[in-house]
Amino acid sequence: MTRDVIVACDFDSAHTLTTFLDLFEDDKPFVKIGMEMFYAGGPQIVREVKNRGHKIFLDLKLHDIPQTVRKTMRVLSQLDVDMTNLHCAGGSTMMKAAIEGLTRSDGTRPLLIGVTQLTSTSQEMLEDELLISQPMPDVVASYAANAQHSGLDGVVCSPLEAQPVHEKLGKSFLTVTPGIRFVDSAADDQRRITTPHQAYELGADMIVVGRPITQATDPVAAYTRCVKEFTR
Ligand code: C5P
Repeated sequence: MTRDVIVACDFDSAHTLTTFLDLFEDDKPFVKIGMEMFYAGGPQIVREVKNRGHKIFLDLKLHDIPQTVRKTMRVLSQLDVDMTNLHCAGGSTMMKAAIEGLTRSDGTRPLLIGVTQLTSTSQEMLEDELLISQPMPDVVASYAANAQHSGLDGVVCSPLEAQPVHEKLGKSFLTVTPGIRFVDSAADDQRRITTPHQAYELGADMIVVGRPITQATDPVAAYTRCVKEFTR
């Protein structure tokens, strides 16, 4: 598995996304299409980005009853994306149903990863609002173990949790990590953050980077900096 930098393209129109992608002439970044972009541009924008030669992580974070997730994943499996996801909080029956739905008749399927805890969730919020009293690393490790037992390929977690997840569940279990900031960029609403290089040192397999690239004065330079810091 190569170490990829995935650009979170959180835009509200297909035109803004394609204008952004036009900036990248040589190196076609791995693109994350999340809820905002998917609800604005629909399956058509996914096909368009794929036709332009980008790998796609379709980040819709499914979380519903098993039957709904199975049927929705069946629909998504027809879009030629490389990776998609769900919330591990939906439980193991839901995660197994997702794999069934996502698997095409020829046995192939996109990678499926699970969100453990959002990187915007702090320990305080975990305890006070979600009423989960265990330390964040234990909660993430437990959700990740459930995901692995259910057949998922990896988890979305903070880079700070990549190392313990790998130690517990093996190196081949993917860690996809948002919450990435350059030393000189704003944290925004993210809480458990690291730089691209720290994420590399912690063993993250893929980093998901949004605003530090999409809102940069020179997004291509910011992307190139990110790739250098993450892969050196
Ligand atoms: O702009 P920023 O770099 O904060 O973007 C991070 C992206 O990763 C957003 O699209 C967000 O939805 C996503 N994400 C996250 N934390 C998770 C799962 C996904 O920030 N646990």
